[in-house]
Amino acid sequence: MQHSKDIELITLLEVSKALGSTMGLERKLASAMKILSEFMDMKRGTVTLLDRDTMEMRIVAAHGLTMEEIRRGKYRIGEGIVGKVLKTGFPMVIPNIGEEPMFLNRTKARAGVAKENISFLCVPIKLRGETFGVLSVDRLFGQRVSYEQDLRVLKLVSSLIAQAVKLHELIAWERKEKEDLKRQLKARYSLGNIIGSSKGMQEVFRTVHKVAKSRATVLLRGESGTGKELIARAVHTNSERADRPFIKVNCAAIPENLLESEFFGHEKGAFTGAIAQRKGRFELADTGTIFLDEVGEIPPALQGKLLRTLQEREFERVGGNKTIKVDVRVIAATNRNLEDDIKSGIFRDDLYWRLNVVPIFLPPLRERAEDIPMLIEYFLKRFNEENQKSITIHQKAFNLLLRYPWPGNVRELENTIERLVVLSEGSLIRDDDLPLYIRSTPSILPSSLPGSIEAMEKERILKALDEHRWVYTKAAKALGLTDRQLGYRIKKYGIKLQSS
Ligand SMILES: Nc1ncnc2c1ncn2[C@@H]1O[C@H](COP(=O)(O)OP(=O)(O)OP(=O)(O)O)[C@@H](O)[C@H]1O
Ligand SMILES: [Mg+2]
Repeated sequence: MQHSKDIELITLLEVSKALGSTMGLERKLASAMKILSEFMDMKRGTVTLLDRDTMEMRIVAAHGLTMEEIRRGKYRIGEGIVGKVLKTGFPMVIPNIGEEPMFLNRTKARAGVAKENISFLCVPIKLRGETFGVLSVDRLFGQRVSYEQDLRVLKLVSSLIAQAVKLHELIAWERKEKEDLKRQLKARYSLGNIIGSSKGMQEVFRTVHKVAKSRATVLLRGESGTGKELIARAVHTNSERADRPFIKVNCAAIPENLLESEFFGHEKGAFTGAIAQRKGRFELADTGTIFLDEVGEIPPALQGKLLRTLQEREFERVGGNKTIKVDVRVIAATNRNLEDDIKSGIFRDDLYWRLNVVPIFLPPLRERAEDIPMLIEYFLKRFNEENQKSITIHQKAFNLLLRYPWPGNVRELENTIERLVVLSEGSLIRDDDLPLYIRSTPSILPSSLPGSIEAMEKERILKALDEHRWVYTKAAKALGLTDRQLGYRIKKYGIKLQSS
């Protein structure tokens, strides 16, 4: 029976509808095969895909085959007709399988039918020159069919299948990527809420882990809002003093004349208003940690007394003469350039050397833009929870947030996200919702979201390759990729392969 152009068109339309549906890949393919057999008088339709891990071909969907038959249908590349089509990338037609020695009949599905009456059509499933599967159908050839016509339809169907398979792979990859991101986020969460996968922050984390257990004095440097206090607390909570007090003194917020008493305490009547004895911060921090925030703001008159306390771990209360000894770990922070302050004579260099035992530099956010996506996700989640909302950020707005240089660093980012969540009336934050100064940032670097995700992906791949000594298949497995997918990405990112 000659099939008309109309039937061909309807078949293609139905197949493309089935492949575009929201079902899982295997179900999509199975329904495409069913449509083929219904409309085109094809008795059996099979989609075989190459599994790059095992280098075996596997039937992923079939119409007219039992489960057992599907399970049996495994081929190696080059084996049998299906294998040959995969290897060569060219279609094959076996007019009469009864006369074809290459026909393996792996599935044994045709046991009931006289072989003589079946022809077998096989077309590659390929995209941009890469063959990764085979579509094959059986035809009863009593029916006077034109193979050319059949092949034309099958090629069109197979290209639709190829795209569906690719799309499916892409979606699976993206989903995996998202889950990895979530997992990373969770892992950090338990590490004390500090986000940072950039080189700079990883270096900070490493140092924190190294020094936390000691009593070494730590000096945190970095612009305002880079996370100095967060890191100070992390050093404390990762130390053996974690359940002892953590006492913070903001040296910039306390008037000069009260700072000494704040540090060391005072005796009753030490000065006007000292109506009772009071313990200072150093005493309160005994056995724990004292955090001297904005240490660069300490007036020169007090710097000498602080130096002595750091050297001897002892001091006297204001207006008292009893020497008090304490066991404290000192962490200091400043956003000032202390070296300049030493040169201009407002900071004592001996105090500087006492403080600068383990310096930790927190890089400004604009120098670690790859941390921004995760920080946004993190703050978005937090403020959504706090405000019982489920707001998301539109891609365009997201890109603008990535591009902005964040002069106020993480604090500014945090405040911005909070404001956006609180003020948002809809469920989506669009670029128009962003403040003008963010919207109008000139794009200096092409650091769009895809760019930074690509940077993250490249880094992940390099890491996996390193960890598996550049053994390709192992790295691919660790990444949840097929060899082929990994190969593609290696090429895309221009990664130079090293031999193990
Ligand atoms: N890596 C990070 N992950 C998550 N939150 C962060 C991170 N860095 C900073 N933050 C948040 O940003 C805000 C500012 O951080 P922090 O107060 O530690 O900065 P700072 O360096 O002490 O700033 P300043 O010099 O202005 O005192 C805080 O709310 C902090 O929780
Ligand atoms: Mg601070």
